[in-house]
Amino acid sequence: MADDRKYDDITRPWYGKYNGPHRDLREFIDRAEREGEILRASGADWDLEMGALAEIVNHARAEPPAVFFENIQGYPSNYRAISGLSNSSKRLALTLGFAEPKSAIDVVLAYRDRMKVHKPIPPVTVQKGPVLENVMRGDDIDLFKFPVPRLHEKDGGRYIGTDDLVIMRDPEGGWINAATYRVQVHDARTVGIWISPGKQGRQIRDKYFKAGKPCPVLICCGQDPLLFLAANHEVRYGVSEIDYAGGHRGEPFEVIPSEVHGLPIPAHAEIVIEGTMYPDDLRMEGPFGEFTGYYASAPSEQPVVHVERVYYRNDPIMGIACPMRPPTDVSFGKCIVKAGMIWDEMERAGISGIKGVWCHEAGVARLFNVISLKQAYAGHAKQALLVAAGCQSGAYVGRFTIVVDEDVDPTDMFDVIWAMSTRCDPIEDIDFIRRMWTGPLDPMSSKSNMSSRALIDACRPFERLSEFPEVASAPRELIDRVRVKFADVVKKL
Ligand SMILES: Cc1cc2nc3c(=O)[nH]c(=O)nc-3n(C[C@H](O)[C@H](O)[C@H](O)COP(=O)(O)O)c2cc1C
Repeated sequence: MADDRKYDDITRPWYGKYNGPHRDLREFIDRAEREGEILRASGADWDLEMGALAEIVNHARAEPPAVFFENIQGYPSNYRAISGLSNSSKRLALTLGFAEPKSAIDVVLAYRDRMKVHKPIPPVTVQKGPVLENVMRGDDIDLFKFPVPRLHEKDGGRYIGTDDLVIMRDPEGGWINAATYRVQVHDARTVGIWISPGKQGRQIRDKYFKAGKPCPVLICCGQDPLLFLAANHEVRYGVSEIDYAGGHRGEPFEVIPSEVHGLPIPAHAEIVIEGTMYPDDLRMEGPFGEFTGYYASAPSEQPVVHVERVYYRNDPIMGIACPMRPPTDVSFGKCIVKAGMIWDEMERAGISGIKGVWCHEAGVARLFNVISLKQAYAGHAKQALLVAAGCQSGAYVGRFTIVVDEDVDPTDMFDVIWAMSTRCDPIEDIDFIRRMWTGPLDPMSSKSNMSSRALIDACRPFERLSEFPEVASAPRELIDRVRVKFADVVKKL
């Protein structure tokens, strides 16, 4: 049956509280600060201290605040940076306009609900916007004008693009891809982009280069966190992340055609670099401390972007995402959205009975994913495993996919390991799939950029469901009654 509820009926309560979607990153920061979600840090050095502080904050507790770097050493006080914009349930809900959540699962469920009515909304083209307040051209271009951080000790340099949008136009279909790829500053007027094999931006760039043509590009470093969220998740091939983000916002983003290539610049972005990559014009890039927790890929030759314009707002705020040994300043938010996306894709592939999906943070939202399922037929669990491990949101750098029964909480590692320990016969219930999609950032990947997957069926065997030993746990009513009777004991727990 078609779901004919209106977008606003379902999911704009928090945007409602603030009278509509935030206009830009600045308004988002104001709102998040009012909700107690921002930590201001004054006087950090761009050289390693910003990265180290991000590590301290994000390792201190689950659902850490975003860190707003002010008075960065060696830079004017109006040049700021912020890390971890959507890395809590509350900030993620604020990003997407969901109701204020009580838990991460509330956000997963709101995401699922949103996707029932979500339709991409293309941006509107305008001729003016705050991003044009300053434009550097020609010899004036100096990327070191911004407090570009060196995040980890062994990084090959300073990275201006981490919380970024790399915007390219597909030369065949004409559609716009906007994705998060790391961007290293080589010198004042050139940068290098690292794109993993198989990524949509890589496919697009390859099309230009195979035709012997230069590849135009925009790099947006500081923008509405909703655009960043869209850019670093596996949005369907051929769908622009700007349209996808507009669909969540419920209204279009504004974009301005760039001066050199006519690519769409988000009008309210903070800093946008425009340039061109040429076939065979390569320079060493990396290493970089990465999301798996390692300096995983050795330095390699990557295409150089020759910068032709830099557009930026007065008092710019650069976005930072600091990958590192997890948890990172992105990983918590990523677990939530990734869980929602995999759940959604599984249902679209026809899998019934899914009760929950969770992508564990220790597996950085990619390598240890759990599905909770009410088994309905023989082979149901295996089918769920194959789809979860193979769908677009679950395929890249996967490792372990586990399916558990509906009585097991997929977010609770203790529960999951108990199910694996007691309902899984390793020889019968663990399958290995060889040669799946991975990339150089996976410390276990081979040169082929492929690696194997373990699909773990930790559900009770379907043919033994009726006779499987019962769980030795007090029934709910008894628990509730005893809780009340022994309230004085319980409150001391
Ligand atoms: C903080 C952060 C940094 C990332 N850096 C890279 C990167 O340097 N290269 C890459 O290929 N993917 C990187 N990713 C993953 C991609 O953004 C993600 O897979 C995205 O869906 C790719 O978009 P595409 O499918 O349009 O290529 C990063 C993700 C995050 C959250």
